Amino acid sequence: MIAAARKRCLCVCVPKCYGQEAIMRLKALRLNADGLKAKRDAEFVYIPLARKPTTDEWVSLQASIPQIQPLTQDFEERRRKTLAEELSGTIPQNLIAKLPRAFDVIGDIAIVEVPPELEAYSKLLGSAMLKLHSRIRTVLAKRGPVAGTFRLRQLVLLAGAPKTDTFYKENGCMYHVDVVRAYFSPRLSGEHRRVASLVGKHETVVDMFAGVGPFAILIAKTAENAMVYAVELNPAAFELLKENVRLNRVEKRVFPVF
Ligand SMILES: C[S@@+](CC[C@H](N)C(=O)[O-])C[C@H]1O[C@@H](n2cnc3c(N)ncnc32)[C@H](O)[C@@H]1O
Repeated sequence: MIAAARKRCLCVCVPKCYGQEAIMRLKALRLNADGLKAKRDAEFVYIPLARKPTTDEWVSLQASIPQIQPLTQDFEERRRKTLAEELSGTIPQNLIAKLPRAFDVIGDIAIVEVPPELEAYSKLLGSAMLKLHSRIRTVLAKRGPVAGTFRLRQLVLLAGAPKTDTFYKENGCMYHVDVVRAYFSPRLSGEHRRVASLVGKHETVVDMFAGVGPFAILIAKTAENAMVYAVELNPAAFELLKENVRLNRVEKRVFPVF
């Protein structure tokens, strides 16, 4: 990565605990300014925008990200090499257009879908992702769909540390996840928050399919005196659920049930 000049531009300011969610939503709306570096202070993250959101986009952002505010700030310009640039000359030129444009990041693990045409080059792709994204330690590739009672997906190592577990912060909660042994999707972050926001004070909730706990733990942390019975059938997910209950200090309000 090459640091460059500064640029004044429109941005959104969000509380730090919603930073990752805000970045995902802005990316989905193609609103994030790729060439500028987000910045943070003690409480907030400032995410530069590529353009002014439309009224509808702004309404949807306000509905999903608490305390989001528009501001104008100075940001450091950056120029990250693209995968295409990194792999140009290493893989056949006609396959450059097939390179994945996005991938999931959970903690320090990236999960990518490799198109069949690029299968022979998948390890090179993984190594390039590691090189370009310093926070990623492991690159895994999807092999088939999420399937079975436990809703698991087969993943194979492309590059980096041979591990499948990591710690992931979502909606202000910390989760130990294992992307092979227990279901977890960072794409459900907004849904976890939406459902938790529906729970009132002193309510008792049964989370019938709790996984590693992203609904149950957030409910316990955000709904005053709510209690959650968190039911999970997968032994590996159940162990992580119990650990996450302890990690988030909600032992008195979330009761894991196997
Ligand atoms: C799609 S995942 C959702 C997990 C979690 N709610 C989340 O958002 O990450 C469904 C979970 O239900 C669990 N499950 C499947 N059948 C179950 C059952 N009969 N009783 C309890 N849990 C079950 C699976 O092991 C899996 O972890």
